[in-house]
Amino acid sequence: MKIIIADFIYTPNGYIKNHAVAFDDAIIAIDTLEELQTRYKDAKIHHTEANSVLYPGFINTHVHLEFSANKTALQYGSFMPWLHSVIEERDTLLASCDNATMMSACEAMLRSGITAFGAISSFGTELEVCEQTPQRVVFFNELIGSNAAYADMLYGDFTQRLDASMHCDKASRITPAIAIHSPYSVHPVLLHKAIGLAKQHALPLSAHFLESQAERDWLEKGEGEFKPFFEKFFNTSTPVTTTKEFICAFDTHPTHFTHCVQTSKEELEYLISKGHSVAHCPRSNRYLGVGRLAIEYLMKAKFSVATDGLSSNDSLNLFDELRAALMLHHQAPLDKLASRLIRSVTGDAAEILGLNCGKITVGAAADFAVVTLPEAPKREEEIALWTILHTKEVSEVYIEGEKYV
Ligand code: BEZ
Ligand code: FE2
Repeated sequence: MKIIIADFIYTPNGYIKNHAVAFDDAIIAIDTLEELQTRYKDAKIHHTEANSVLYPGFINTHVHLEFSANKTALQYGSFMPWLHSVIEERDTLLASCDNATMMSACEAMLRSGITAFGAISSFGTELEVCEQTPQRVVFFNELIGSNAAYADMLYGDFTQRLDASMHCDKASRITPAIAIHSPYSVHPVLLHKAIGLAKQHALPLSAHFLESQAERDWLEKGEGEFKPFFEKFFNTSTPVTTTKEFICAFDTHPTHFTHCVQTSKEELEYLISKGHSVAHCPRSNRYLGVGRLAIEYLMKAKFSVATDGLSSNDSLNLFDELRAALMLHHQAPLDKLASRLIRSVTGDAAEILGLNCGKITVGAAADFAVVTLPEAPKREEEIALWTILHTKEVSEVYIEGEKYV
């Protein structure tokens, strides 16, 4: 048994003072230090540095580790030129992304306090790294393929990757999961099979959705920038599905939809009514020039803030991402937004991924990140804001009660 004490503890009821947390691999009790010491006489007591806040470990629900080698290869600024550059550079980027590169991306996430992440896996090449890294990983095996002629082959490859992620050692903290690449790139037959599989095995499910105006133009009218793209690469000028058809396919399985920048208020309300959630990737959206997610429509819903991959970002640091979110949503009241953003990468993110962490409550996993502020906060209602503005790296990280930073 261990006891950790910090100036503030972030709980589902807000920041509390003069308290400590007793834990082994899970959280055992939250009380005053005196009370915990009396109850757990042999516990080892750890005092964090002055001005520290004990948080549950932070959660990055959406990242692509396989593209971690990208720095200047992919074209930013607009979605279609970026997608073309992905096709052009993909083989080179994948070949230069070895286990050491991906492990260093995991370590950078760990130093920024990320104790769990959702890895979107196109090829399964990061499975070994995800098994080795101490973080919990929800391993989203991605399904792609709009051409019916290749459907069986692609589905076979997908189920093999899914199967491998289902047989990882328990110590690897891997949860197998399914990702649908997008409405424009997955044939409805494949889509329905994969959703059926997610339901059958109760697997977390995720999908990129309405990331760009080009995607909407293609799905609704078979027009726009995707038309020459599909004509060139797939010899077709008809989309395989519509926005409405795609959304309705997920009606009975809560799904984590990524981006949604071109989703209307009505569509967002529909997603919320079906229990779905949204992954918001502000830097990726800005770098690919796709617009701003209207998070003001998501205040009653669950959304996360996530980094996406280094294929559309400059770091996997969750605090860099939270600072970008604060800037992007300039119309929102600052303190309130900061508090909501912290919830989006802790408790809400854990619920989205179906993990028993992300909250400092009795019975949750003992996953913690200690944030040390440069000075004592003058007003408690600003702790979330100072956390986001002043943190590049956290001072300590625990996963299942073990200290990793
Ligand atoms: C496809 O496999 O159909 C696809 C892949 C990437 C972009 C668009 C379509
Ligand atoms: Fe993504």
